[in-house]
Amino acid sequence: CGIVGITGKRVALPVLLRGLQKLEYRGYDSAGVYVNDSAAKQEFFFKEKGRVEQLEALVADKDIHGNTGIAHTRWATHGIPSAHNSHPHVSASGRFFLVHNGVIENFRELKETYLQGVEFKSETDTEVAVQLVAKLVEQDGLTVAEAFRKVLTLIGAGSYAFVLIDNQNPDVLYVARNKSPLLLGLGEDFTVVTSDAAAMLEYTHDFMSLDDGEMAIIKGTDIEVVNPDGQKIEHEPFTIEIDAAETDKGIYPYYMLKEIEEQPNVIRTLMKQYLDDKNQAKIDDQIIAELKNADRIYIVAAGTSYHASLIGKRMFEKIANRPTQVEIASEFAYDSYIPETNPFFVFLSQSGETADSREVLQMIAAKGFKSLTLTNVPNSTLAREATYALPLLAGPEIAVASTKAYTAQITVLAFLAQAMADNKVSVAHPLAAIAVAMEAILQDKDHYEALAQDYLVDASSAFYIGRANDAELALEAALKLKEISYVHTEGFAAGELKHGTLALIEDNTPVIGLITQPKTAELTRSNLAETQARGAHTLIIAADQVAHPEDQIVLPSVDSANDDSVVVDQLAILLATIPVQLLSYYTSLGRGLDVDRPRNLAKSVTVQ
Ligand code: G6P
Repeated sequence: CGIVGITGKRVALPVLLRGLQKLEYRGYDSAGVYVNDSAAKQEFFFKEKGRVEQLEALVADKDIHGNTGIAHTRWATHGIPSAHNSHPHVSASGRFFLVHNGVIENFRELKETYLQGVEFKSETDTEVAVQLVAKLVEQDGLTVAEAFRKVLTLIGAGSYAFVLIDNQNPDVLYVARNKSPLLLGLGEDFTVVTSDAAAMLEYTHDFMSLDDGEMAIIKGTDIEVVNPDGQKIEHEPFTIEIDAAETDKGIYPYYMLKEIEEQPNVIRTLMKQYLDDKNQAKIDDQIIAELKNADRIYIVAAGTSYHASLIGKRMFEKIANRPTQVEIASEFAYDSYIPETNPFFVFLSQSGETADSREVLQMIAAKGFKSLTLTNVPNSTLAREATYALPLLAGPEIAVASTKAYTAQITVLAFLAQAMADNKVSVAHPLAAIAVAMEAILQDKDHYEALAQDYLVDASSAFYIGRANDAELALEAALKLKEISYVHTEGFAAGELKHGTLALIEDNTPVIGLITQPKTAELTRSNLAETQARGAHTLIIAADQVAHPEDQIVLPSVDSANDDSVVVDQLAILLATIPVQLLSYYTSLGRGLDVDRPRNLAKSVTVQ
């Protein structure tokens, strides 16, 4: 979910709505807004099922003024998407309004213990928090700050980013966070609260973060932060340099297409940042020493970042000869085996906020192990809490389906591999050639649109197969296709298909073969032939040096005569990534879907 709040001397509604639009990637099944105009003693409260634009339509003809407000865009956890389950939630007395991102795990218990007889309007965990604040103030005589703190204590280990308004003291925002992201944006004569700095860059570039368990009381530009023991805390503000325009779609119909097209330049930006003029890796010596000294490297991630980690493992092992293990964050948090005395942990996360990954980071930090986060959001929670952090520099990624963050992650992992190999190999030339070749593919988008029409738009299920790195890319390719086109797709190690899954191949089932690895190219072709013999509609994406003339997609040549063949093979999938992203994009488009905001999903998942 995404939350935004404002207080001070600025008209609240436009800022809140703009914030919601920008936070919509965090969830979009319902939205709501509460604005208080203290001067006119008026309040405005609207909630609507569906997208932010539906809420906007609802408030468009209303005369809403006032400088204090809160708003929310929801990704449902407890309770179906509906107007009554959407936020803000209001106490039965009509006095307190609350927005929340997170999960209050003990909400049923709290409801039973403290709120017998209170009438609830929703099935959400959040409503319990606002009703409880109201009870503690209205019946038990606590001040609002005391009641809010008590509720936080009662929630205990639950995750939350909260913004609360009391309409009897309406220019004050009560804010708290635990595990869920929340930043305070510092304006000249106002303060905003937001789940993500990128949503507020039009209004301020100066931010302050809160630590877990902290609470803030904000009035205008006065901010008082207190820790769970009630002590006042000072946090240094920081500046975020991103230009607000970078978070716009510009000329593109969808963010996803923009982000796909940005990839060659992301690789170039990363090369400038991470390589010196002799193409030696330019990375903090301490980080490289930690990686080299570790008896095992663990890479931990979720979703697309997990798929990038799988490529990272191969590069760390093949290029740098470092034993590496990849773990799915949500599994490893609760089911881990770490026999090494000196492991080192690498966290891969576009957003830097994924709750599953953070749980692992806290678990390994408590054991005294060190870590490095690679993230696209420099001041994110995972960046702040790891021992070290390195930026992905992909620029804001807005489309829910991750594209440029995946290639950026693989690129940075390649620099780490080179550095661990004492710069005896160089990834510079292959990467530069790949960036140019990516541009050539992007010149030929019509071809991919036609192939998507031919193979995928009317399909009900599909397969991506490959071996070695191509098998890892097959997983990402399948995820990309299913998440935005809803075509049920599996990614498979090509040789494994015949051990069971082949039973699913029917007449016309699309099977896409990824062939970039010379060693296994012909074996994958045999596996494709096996599917074809059973009726499959096969499509081949092949690297130039292993392509056959009849292959539907032949990747542009990346002249590699002088490059280390291990490095070239490891990086080859970067180029094959563009076609699979384009096939997904055009399939989603061809099926008339909202490419950037697929159903049921959210880009940054801050609950476990
Ligand atoms: C969500 C997104 C995925 C993303 C995953 C991990 O599920 O929809 O696209 O890969 O989270 O996110 P992270 O920000 O940690 O890379």
